[in-house]
Order: sequence, then C-alpha cells, then structure tokens
Amino acid sequence: MLLLALLLLSLLAAARLLWGQWRLRPLHLPPRVPGLLHLRQPDLPGHLLGLARQFGPVYRLRLSLQEVVVLNSKRTIEDAMIKKWVDFAGRPRMLSYKLVSPAEQDLSLGDYSPLWKAHKKLARSALLLGVRGSMEPLVEQLTQEFCERMRARAGAPVDIQREFSLLTCSVISCLTFGVKDAATVRPIHDCVQELMRTWDHWSVQILDVIPFLRFFPNPGLQRLRRAMRTRDRIVEQQLRRHKESLVPGQWRDMTDYMLHGVWKQSAEEGAGQLLEGHVHMAVVDLFIGGTETTATTLSWALAFLLHHPEILRRLQEELDRELGPADPGSRVPYKERARLPLLNATISEVLRLRPVVPLALPHRTRRPSSIFGYHIPEGTVVIPNLQAAHLDETVWEEPHEFRPDRFLEPGAGPGGLPFGCGARVCLGEPLARLELFVVLAHVLRAFTPLPPAGALPALQPQPWGGINLKVQPFQVRLQPRDHPGPGARQ
Ligand code: HEM
Ligand SMILES: *[C@@H]1O[C@H](CO)[C@@H](O)[C@H](O)[C@H]1NC(C)=O
Repeated sequence: MLLLALLLLSLLAAARLLWGQWRLRPLHLPPRVPGLLHLRQPDLPGHLLGLARQFGPVYRLRLSLQEVVVLNSKRTIEDAMIKKWVDFAGRPRMLSYKLVSPAEQDLSLGDYSPLWKAHKKLARSALLLGVRGSMEPLVEQLTQEFCERMRARAGAPVDIQREFSLLTCSVISCLTFGVKDAATVRPIHDCVQELMRTWDHWSVQILDVIPFLRFFPNPGLQRLRRAMRTRDRIVEQQLRRHKESLVPGQWRDMTDYMLHGVWKQSAEEGAGQLLEGHVHMAVVDLFIGGTETTATTLSWALAFLLHHPEILRRLQEELDRELGPADPGSRVPYKERARLPLLNATISEVLRLRPVVPLALPHRTRRPSSIFGYHIPEGTVVIPNLQAAHLDETVWEEPHEFRPDRFLEPGAGPGGLPFGCGARVCLGEPLARLELFVVLAHVLRAFTPLPPAGALPALQPQPWGGINLKVQPFQVRLQPRDHPGPGARQ
C-alpha cells in the first residue's frame, strides 16, 4: 500500500517536472548547471562564484530539490533588484518561513504585496524618523560602556564575537524597547541566539525539502518551537508595557512609533490593514537581522586587523590625529566621517570581503522577466550572490586580498552591495553603518587588539550553514593604549 502510494507520488512528481519543462520549452532560459549536491558545499557562495566562471554570471541550478537562478555579478544583481525591482521583489513561500511566522506577518520573509510595502515603510520610518535623533548618541554611549568593560579586563583574552553581539543586541533593545539593563537584554540575546541556531539546524531546514517530515517526531523542530514561545512571550510583554503607557502623539522608541502607525492607519483606507501582529514580527526582524550581522562584521574587522598590524597602526594614527590624544571625550560625528578616510575604507573592505549575508535572502519573481538576455519565468527563485559580485576579477584587482587602500585610490568606485539593493534592501543598513563606524573608532582608539599567545584567528568562515557568513570563534586581547581613551576615568 505504502509502496504504491510512493510510486504514485514519484510518478506525479515526474509528470509535473516534465510538464513544467515542456511549458518553458520556447523560452531562452539561463544555462543549467548539473548536479544535486550543491547545497552541501562548505563554501556555498564561493562554489557558486566558481560555477559562474564556467557558465557565466547567470545560471540555473538545483539547490536541494528547488531549481533556482543565481546572479553572480553586480550588474545583473542591480539590473534585477533596482531596474526591474517590481518583478524581483517577491520571496518564496517556504515551510521553514511559515514555521517562524505562522500568521505570515513577517517582514524579511514576507512575500511582496501592497500590505508588505506598507509594513516595510512603517518599520523603516520607525528607524529613520522615529529614533533618528537618538541613534548616534545611544550607540556612542553603549560603546563607551562597552569600552569601560573591556578596560576592566585589562588585556585578558575575550570572546569578542559574544561581546559584540551583546553590544549590538543592547543597541537594538534600546532603540526598539527603550531598555538597556542587562537583566532584560541578556534573555533577549540568548533567545535570539537560540532562534538562529535552531532555525539553521538541518533538522528544520530539511522540512523545506521534504515537507511531510514535519509530521514525524523532530527534536530540532521542538526546540525551535520552544525558542519561538520564549520569543513571543518577550515581545508580547514589551508590547503590553508599551500600550499601557503610550501617550498619543508621542513616541519613546520604535515600538511606540510602530504602534502609533498601526492605530493611525485604521482611519484610512488602503492596502489592507497592518495589525499589531505586524509590529510584533517587525520587532522580531529587528533583533534577528540586527544582532549577529553587525556583531559578526565587527569580529571580521578585528580578525583582519590582527592579520594586518600595519593597517591597524595607520588607523590608530588617523584616529589620534583627528581626535587629539589628550581629550578622552572627543569624538568624530558620523556625518563628518570623511575625516577618517582610512577607517571608512577599512569598513568598506571588510564588508566587501566578508559580506555577512553573502547570498542575501532568496527572492522570487512576481511576473515573467529577463536578465542578461535570458528569460526568467514567473515564480522563479532568484539568489543574488552578493559575495560573487564582491570577488569579481573583472571589477576588483586581487579581489581576495584585504586591501582597504583600494578604496582610497583616486577614481576608486563605490563599495559592493553588502546590504543588497532595491525594494528588498536591508532595513538596518543606516544603523549598521553607524554602528560599524562608531564601535571601531572607539575600540581602536582605546585599545590595541592583539592575538592571545600569538594565535591569529582563521580568516576562513565557518562551513556554510545557511544565511550568515560566520567567523570561526576566536579570542582577542584588547590592550589599553597608554593615553586615556574614550570613557576612561582619570
Ligand atoms: C553589517 C550588518 C548587516 C548586513 C551586512 C546586512 C545585510 C542584509 C542583506 C544582504 C539583506 C537581504 C537583502 C535581500 O534580500 O536582497 C538584509 C535584509 C534585512 N536586514 Fe540586514 N544586514 C545588516 C544589519 C541589519 C540590521 C542592523 C538590521 C535591523 C536593525 C537589519 C534588518 C534587516 C531586515 C529587516 C531585512 C529584510 C528586508 C526585506 O526583506 O525587505 N539588518 N540585510
Ligand atoms: C566611504 O567609502 C566608500 C567606498 O569607497 C565611498 O563610496 C564613500 O563615499 C566613503 N564615505 C565617506 C564619507 O568618505
């Protein structure tokens, strides 16, 4: 009986596949890369770039069972995401997405629709209008507190990725909820970590390939569900607290701002209704999108600087020159960052070489389109390989070398596309760029990062686990420099 059912299922699947191919027959589709096991590559973005050398910048291949189109150059990515953004702004509907957002009110994973557009606009204004004024002083203050904590460690080895992710999580907690005490931030941080760990786990990711496995006992899935219950409890508690103390027409943080936005629009007619559930999921996205990404980029920056002490020295000279060594309170406002060109170039170079979300999130075409002369049918899953664009030999000289000076040379173009582009561009880019600048400026001015016992960190990322380009765990000694840095007490 079971055998018969399986046979029937495979026949149906084969028929669907053949029918699909027959239907697309007259189209000029991108070349197809053979093979089924691409997803198992330990360096998937690099592997996909390698295939581009053979098949050109646009090709089709099977990732798990799904056929996807991969874009491997800046030109093709910008063509799709900016020029033809209306066609390419969708997201695939996958079971693992639905698992973490059962009501489908998520922003990052939500498919494109007029309601989604209103959702993104609300979250974006919450960041860019709602908390614009407090963003820089806040990042500044939390970074100074971070430096004081590091100073107390007096150059002992620290697990820097963890310290940075606590810092970036407290930035988001402050902007979103207006809280920064460790007793509140720590559980949020641990919950975010647990959510990312469990969602990335193969026992959950395999459900996208073989959906009916969800009906079988699955400890990984249970763990994800537990983490989600914690997540929802934390967010609901904060939403309740905010609603109870909300003053009409005023907002203290992004949650207030978004709640106002949701209530205000009920008067107007439009593209469906944004609900409190949308605020809930936007908050989740801010934490998921904004914690590990920025923290990992900061860790990559230190890892590269440990390997390149000459750049570190020049950065510290630049900081000393612009800030003056004597005054511990002096700072360079973010809008005057052009005064620190080497720091700016270093950040661009780190984001180029290690774009933490190297394959962005998968897109899906909402209607038939074309790229690079190839037809792209409606409903195609499209992966922008941002890392490939950053390592393109026809654009970058010695693309694998860490060379911030490439951005200082006359005629140097803009950086890569580490935040994606177009309708789906990273929501947190302005915040992330501010954090990278402020944190590195303060840390490098106050400390000299040194490898513990001369052990340099690995520059190879961890084996590919989906979504983030993770740094291999490493420790660093933050040796206080002899002049008092920011936050030092005299
Ligand atoms: C260095 C830090 C960061 C990098 C490199 C980065 C990169 C990216 C990339 C590549 C995407 C996908 C774009 C696409 O699908 O085409 C993305 C999406 C997103 N990011 Fe970031 N990100 C960073 C920090 C942040 C921060 C700080 C936040 C929140 C405060 C954030 C929130 C989001 C959200 C909500 C999305 C989904 C946008 C959408 O679907 O329209 N990210 N990010
Ligand atoms: C920072 O560097 C990037 C990449 O070279 C450049 O496009 C940008 O204009 C620079 N920003 C400032 C403020 O100098």
